[in-house]
Amino acid sequence: MCNTSLHAFLAALPKAEHHMHLEGSLEPELLFALAAKNGITLPVSTDPAFASAESLRKRYEVFANLDDFLGYYYIGMSVLLDGSDFEALAYAYFAKAASQNVRHAEVFFDPQAHTDRGVELSTIVESFKRAQARAAADFGMSTELIMCLLRHLPLPSAMATFAQAKGAGYFADGTLAAVGMDSSEVPFPPPMWKDLFDAAKELGIRRTCHAGEEGPPLYVSQALDLLDVQRIDHGVRALTDGDDALVTRLASSKTLLTMCPLSNFKLNCIDSMSSFPLRRLLDAGVRFSINSDDPAYFGGYILENYCALQEAFGLGIRDWEMIAKGAIMGSWCAEERRAQLLVEVEDVVNEWARQFEEQ
Ligand code: ADE
Ligand code: ZN
Repeated sequence: MCNTSLHAFLAALPKAEHHMHLEGSLEPELLFALAAKNGITLPVSTDPAFASAESLRKRYEVFANLDDFLGYYYIGMSVLLDGSDFEALAYAYFAKAASQNVRHAEVFFDPQAHTDRGVELSTIVESFKRAQARAAADFGMSTELIMCLLRHLPLPSAMATFAQAKGAGYFADGTLAAVGMDSSEVPFPPPMWKDLFDAAKELGIRRTCHAGEEGPPLYVSQALDLLDVQRIDHGVRALTDGDDALVTRLASSKTLLTMCPLSNFKLNCIDSMSSFPLRRLLDAGVRFSINSDDPAYFGGYILENYCALQEAFGLGIRDWEMIAKGAIMGSWCAEERRAQLLVEVEDVVNEWARQFEEQ
């Protein structure tokens, strides 16, 4: 909860989330419960942070950088073993997101981090599908799955995972909405993944890529030029350090930047929330959405990200209307769903604008 006069409006605003790693929504309490259930020993002998959910949460407050976080992220997800674990994880996120009025969510997952431990791809995907069906029934939320490949693993591993998903028919039947790329960014620049993205493009599969989180603006240009991505995940450094030509290019191509302010702050990609390049995004007309990335690790879900920006920038209702509509416009959902969500935003904005005018 933020202390701004817009808090209740921000909570009510219908939202679309496009950058949320399901494994990054594993709260320490569920992590410990699943470790106990599955007989998994956490590395408490080498890292005292694993003594309890409380001490782990405390450790999450002081990540030095992306790789420091990723070390905890991969250990954390090692407690996920059977289908019920994956379903519980995804449903817990959908329920939390629904409570913050997320109406459409496109969520990432990292199959290689599980298949390398012996979990079948079908176990992961079918469990997520069950959670998605429950989210639709219980909350009226539309959801999509984006399969991310890990850039710290070699290209052949990514190609094999992609081939397995394709062979299972997960792209053809719409189970997977897109392919993405995540994990350690430097020194794994986009050109390394050209074969993978070419294969996805050939099949008409949507493509997105983490770029410009810790990596330089050049990584963002390379993702656009060589991987032909339709979206950039993060891209914050294109805005903080990029030249006007790159920013203008992002705006004119209507490339959606899936931005994650709390994540950027917690991983020291920006020094403070007021260094988040919100003004440059708005002034240049770049299409972007505000997202939570790894909410269990960075101290907040999507609403806490909206609130952090509101506290830093003091936006008005009409600014938020533009942000909320931009996120919906950039969503990978059917045209009718997009139209429906835009009406939902309009209704809430009009109701709150009236209330503010009456005060
Ligand atoms: N995997 C989960 N969160 C990530 C992030 N912020 N950057 C890169 N890979 C990730
Ligand atoms: Zn991410």
